Amino acid sequence: MNRIIIDTDPGVDDALAIAFALSSPLDVIGVSTVFGNSSVADSTQNALTIVDLLEKNTPVYAGARRPMNGKSKRASSHGKNGLGGLELKTNRTQQQAGAQKFIVEQLRSANEPIDIVAIGPATNIALILKNYPDVVAKIGQVVVMAGVIDAAGNITDKAEFNAYNDPLALQIVLSAPIRTVLIPADVCRKVVFTTDVFNRIRNEGMRDAMLKLTAAYITYYQQNDDFETFEGGVMYDLLAVAYILNPTLFTTINSEVRVNLDGGPDYGMTTLGDSKAGSLVARDVDASRVKGLFLATLNGTI
Ligand code: BDR
Ligand code: CA
Repeated sequence: MNRIIIDTDPGVDDALAIAFALSSPLDVIGVSTVFGNSSVADSTQNALTIVDLLEKNTPVYAGARRPMNGKSKRASSHGKNGLGGLELKTNRTQQQAGAQKFIVEQLRSANEPIDIVAIGPATNIALILKNYPDVVAKIGQVVVMAGVIDAAGNITDKAEFNAYNDPLALQIVLSAPIRTVLIPADVCRKVVFTTDVFNRIRNEGMRDAMLKLTAAYITYYQQNDDFETFEGGVMYDLLAVAYILNPTLFTTINSEVRVNLDGGPDYGMTTLGDSKAGSLVARDVDASRVKGLFLATLNGTI
């Protein structure tokens, strides 16, 4: 199974993505963190908490505090510490090395390609692509949850959260000479999670933690009338892990993706360009199979 690094800003849906990957046959060699849903300090603490909950020893490395360019905006749907109502504490600590150094060293010494699951602002990955061109060929693929195609944004009318928080970084990643897979928010919105899914987790401690993690986030979506009425929460980031585990769950097209950097009302907006060269862009997903795979993976029944 693929060796992966998860680059993340936990975040309720990031936490689910980490739990999903750590429960799966994927070889998660490390978790790198980035600012985004909260500060990088909170993201790092939250990543450590989830690794601890899963009883794994996966190392956690802190990364970028701010975007390459422009300002960042925090999210409001993930609760005050970024993990909804989950108030677990951990004694675990982050590694001394920074996220970019860790990723570069892993790539340099790798005999097999390493995949990167990028589920926060793309800052860490873009800085590596820009500053360490010698490691680029060692990347198997970058699966990015970011952007929104032909639909409203979630941080502005036009922009999705991860794209808005570092559009330059996203543009660098999506135009790099590597395989990139984009899972945009409009596809994620097709997979809606209600508490029913989490109630079916068999291990009592894990079920309780997952229900605490997701309850307020799900309510936020149910009560949010910005777009349409959702019956539950959109767990964006776990779709990037689902893609690595089983790409056949998704329908994709080959397309260039443009990211608006202009600074006006379209800042961070993502659109498909005319060229077919560029990224694999998800356009549809089998929602019930994604939820089934998530649950079976957490329950160890796969
Ligand atoms: C993305 O924004 C964040 O709030 C989520 O964690 C996800 O990565 C969805 O737009
Ligand atoms: Ca995220």
